[in-house]
Order: sequence, then structure tokens, then C-alpha cells
Amino acid sequence: MCGIVGYIGNKQAVPILIEGLKKLEYRGYDSAGVAVYNGNDDNINVVKAKGRLSVLENKLKTYCPDGMMGIGHTRWATHGEPNDVNSHPHASQNGIIAVVHNGIIENYMQLKEFLQSKGYCFQSDTDTEVIAHLVEYNYRGDLLNAVIKTLNDLEGSYALGVICTQCPDEFIAARKDSPLIVGIGKNENFIASDIPAILKYTRDIYILEDKEIACVKKDSVSIYNILGEKVKRDIFHVDWDISSAEKGGFEHFMIKEICEEPKAVKSTLSPRLKDSKIVLDNINLTKEYLAQLEKIYIIACGTAYHAGVVGKYAIEKLTRIPVEVELASEFRYRDPIVNKNHLSIVISQSGETLDSLMALREAKKRGARILSVVNVVGSSIARESDNVFYTWAGPEIAVASTKAYNTQLSAMYLFAIDFALKRGTISVDEAKKYRNELDRIPSLIEKIVNDREKIQKFASRHYNAKSIFFIGRGLDYALSMEGSLKLKEISYIHSEAYAGGELKHGTIALIEEGTLVVCPLTQESLFDKMLSNIKEVKARGAVVMAITHEKHALMVEKYADIVITIPDMESLLSPIAAITPMQLFAYYMSVLKGNDVDKPRNLAKSVTVE
Ligand code: F6R
Repeated sequence: MCGIVGYIGNKQAVPILIEGLKKLEYRGYDSAGVAVYNGNDDNINVVKAKGRLSVLENKLKTYCPDGMMGIGHTRWATHGEPNDVNSHPHASQNGIIAVVHNGIIENYMQLKEFLQSKGYCFQSDTDTEVIAHLVEYNYRGDLLNAVIKTLNDLEGSYALGVICTQCPDEFIAARKDSPLIVGIGKNENFIASDIPAILKYTRDIYILEDKEIACVKKDSVSIYNILGEKVKRDIFHVDWDISSAEKGGFEHFMIKEICEEPKAVKSTLSPRLKDSKIVLDNINLTKEYLAQLEKIYIIACGTAYHAGVVGKYAIEKLTRIPVEVELASEFRYRDPIVNKNHLSIVISQSGETLDSLMALREAKKRGARILSVVNVVGSSIARESDNVFYTWAGPEIAVASTKAYNTQLSAMYLFAIDFALKRGTISVDEAKKYRNELDRIPSLIEKIVNDREKIQKFASRHYNAKSIFFIGRGLDYALSMEGSLKLKEISYIHSEAYAGGELKHGTIALIEEGTLVVCPLTQESLFDKMLSNIKEVKARGAVVMAITHEKHALMVEKYADIVITIPDMESLLSPIAAITPMQLFAYYMSVLKGNDVDKPRNLAKSVTVE
């Protein structure tokens, strides 16, 4: 969701900005632009265009501004339709200031009226343009001060890059509720919304905190708080490799990331599966704390929310602690009953999802302890939590979340087993049984990934389906929600997930000759009930794709049109592996339909606005 890149140094800025923006394409965007200053002209040179970066690149072939300081942006429209004029960067009235912005300025109408009363004319429909004019209005020869003064008038969220013709040796960056990092190079420095954009040039970064401002020169970076006081910040060294953020021979990031699931799950589990025990690093929820814990809220959005639904089933089953799973966007506005005897688990791959971050703050304000499950180190959600469990999935670039989900489930199971053992609701032997089973999971997923051809063939016969249902019971229902989301977000096929027992209360009316129904059967205790549900939909003409353990294949084949098997494993833990065939199914359906798999329409990877 909007990407920002900024550069100052001894090289031409445009190629660096474009290359950086390409690395941020995964975030989702509908237009792009660059603003560059060469130190001589009266104005900043801005080139921008609606559409993919290739459209901007073509425009730059006709006219490529020269300059060694610049800012670039990929825009995901919020205020004003995607078009050339609304694209960023936005220049101020007299052209001395240019701004790129990620976020939403909530009071932009008031600011616009104020600026109009002072004679400012607006070219675009965006909220961002007020920032450019306001910085110009506040500019009295000191860009840092002008930006700080402007920030004090802004309500909402922002990550900003600001350049000015009067200050050719520096640019200003700032953030609030929207991610921004500063990359530290040799005689060159950078800003970016995410690490991959600058990883080619440096592994040393500063992670800006909320309401901090950076003054970036080619040989120095100074960070200030909103009062203009200097802030000291440690350098964060990125230790993952750039190849993790590249396709490496795969056709799409999504299939690469599905194939990386065994590694992602192993990296998440291994450091926590020591000898015969589970060791949750520095999370340190003691026996005493867990004994008095009254309730757990799991809060998240989208795929992370679905991981939370699995977490609810697993944690309640093993620990007997009541768990509520909440959509972050609902939780934050519904005056939730939360207090200091409650634990809030916030799950987020990016760690920057605004709804989840706001819900976290709401839970914290009401006294709950916050344990977050986050993939991006140093992200906002991680930094604002009392304890963080990092999922070591590596960078996830495809918009559709895959390997992050498996690792989030790994976290849910580790919590369930650890908490239950400490509360005495499972025995040491039971904990050991689950622990050993978790240890096997990466190799089981590997097998599923290697056997993916059958799913591809099945998809090739059904990719024109108009509507696809997912039905399951218990944990398979939780799994179905995620399978259905994955399918609809990238294949654009209508899909719904239903609890098997709920069919007869309405949904079954929608099953007709040829309707495709995906049915996971991985829960031993609900196996027969689920077989009955399959018979029900088959009797109405449905085509059934079943997903079950190898040991049940022969039995299920009698009823389903195709059976996808997963290796035999504990019912409770099966979702970590059983999701993979569903992700593969969604992937192949999308490829066959000719969709832009990694960048599905209207979606962004990191949703940093409401
Ligand atoms: C679906 C998907 C989204 C995200 C959701 C939360 O494939 O990617 O539903 O899961 O936007 O994002 P994070 O986990 O970054 O908070």
C-alpha cells in the first residue's frame, strides 16, 4: 500500500528510485512518480503516471530529469481516482517543495480551506497536496522546522519524504502510523517504506519511530522528535539475503513462497523446540501469570485473523482458557471488555496493519498484556508489544499471504502447548507427543509441495468455475475460511466458507449440478460427520475436492471426485499442512485465469490505512 523511496548521494537518483520502487511493487499501487532536484534549476522536476511502473519508465525515456537527490512513490489511491495528476510526488504552489506521502490526512479539508484562504490553488483531489503547500507556507529558510511545524497541524497517518530547491544537500523524512526506514550508505543515504527497496545498497538501517523526523544528507542522518530535539537511534543490521526477496527462478513469488513453507515453518519451530521441550525465548509467561489469566483475545485481519481462529480452537482445547478471536477493525470500535487479567495476542505478518496496530493500542490502554506474532522485525506492532514472537518466514512479497500463515499457526500451537503444560491441563507426555509431531511438520509440507501436479491438473478443469464453496468442521472450518479467502483474492472467483453443520441452515440451497465444493477432512473426531456433509452436497450434484490424510484416501475416494492427500498426522496440528493444497489450488486457478497472481487487483500487501 503506497511505497516510498528517497535518495541522496553521488549517483543519478532516478534509476535508484525506480529500482527501489520495483522492489515495493508487491505492496500494491495504481500509479507512480519521481521528483528529482539537480541543485541548479528553479524548480523540482516531477514525472508521474497512472498505471504500472513500466508506464512511468516509458515516460522517463522521453524525459529523464537529472539530479542526485530525489523521492519516488507508488500510489494506492484513497483520496481521488488513480490518474496522472493525483499521483505523487506533489509539488507546492511555487514549485520549491515536493512531497511523497503514505497514509491518510484526516483533517485535510480544513487545511485545504485554510490554504485556499491564503491564496493556494490545488491541482489534485488528494489529501497529500495540502502537505506540500503547508510546508511551503511554513518554510522560513529551514526545511526541518517547516516540516515539524506542518506535522503539528496534521491529523491522521503519514510516512513522508520532502525535498526543497532551497536545500539541495538534504531532504526530510517523517513517520506516524505508517512504516519508514532510513538506509545508511557510504556517501549516500536512502529512505524507503520497506527494506527490500534499499537492500542492494546497504544492510544498515534506522527504523523511525512514530512522530520522528529524519534529516537525511549524503554523509549524515539526524533523527529528531516532534519537538525538534535530537534522538539517538541504534543501527539495525539486516541479516537476511536479497535473494529471499527475489523470485529465484520461480514464475511468481506466490509459488516460491509456498515452496518455502517447509523452511519457514522449520525456522519458526526449530529455535523453540529444544530437546524434549518447548522454549518460548523471551516471552516468559509464567505459571503464575497463566494460572490467573481469565481470557485471551486474538486480534488480527485477513489471513492472520484466520490463523487466530485456528489458535482459538487449539488454545481452548489444550489450556481451557476462553479465547475470543476478533477482527481488528471491529475490536477497536466496539468498546471491548478488556482488562489487566486478559492477554491480547495480535497476529500480523507485516506488523504494520493499521487496524491491528490501533486495536493493539486499544487493548493496551485497557490494561491487557500484548503478545504479538509478527514476521517483520522492528515493525510497529512488534515495537509496541510487551512480548514478541517472531515468525521466521522470511520476506513475503506476494500479496496473498501463504508461508506467513503456516508460521503463524506454528506460533499458535507452540502457545497452546506451552500454556497448557504450565497450567497443568496437559501432561508432560502429551506435550512431548505434540512437540515431536511439530518437529515432523516441515518434512510433511515438503511432501505436499512436491506432489502439487495433481492439484494443478484439477485446477485446469475447473478454473472457469463461477462460485466455489469450502466446507469443514472444527479446525477444518477454520482452515476452510483461509482456503476460501486465498481463492477469491487471487482468482476473483466468488467463494464462501461454511461450517459443515451449517449447510442445512441455508447454504445448501446454493449447491447445484456442477458446483465445486472443497472439503477438508483432517479432524478424526468429525470424520464421519464430514463424510455425511459430502454425501449431502454430492446428492445435489456438487463436484467435490476432498483433502484428507493418506490413511483415509480409499474411504474418501468412494464419495469425492478427487482426493488430495496429506501425510498422516495429529488432527490438532493438521491445519499447518492441510492449508498448503488449498494455497496451491488458489495459485493454479489464478495462473490459469491469466491473473496477476502476485499483485491481485485492488489489494495491497501492507494495509497501512483504515
Ligand atoms: C491475505 C492477506 C491479507 C492479510 C491482512 C493482514 O492473503 O494477505 O488478508 O493477511 O491484510 O495483514 P498482516 O498480517 O500484515 O497484518
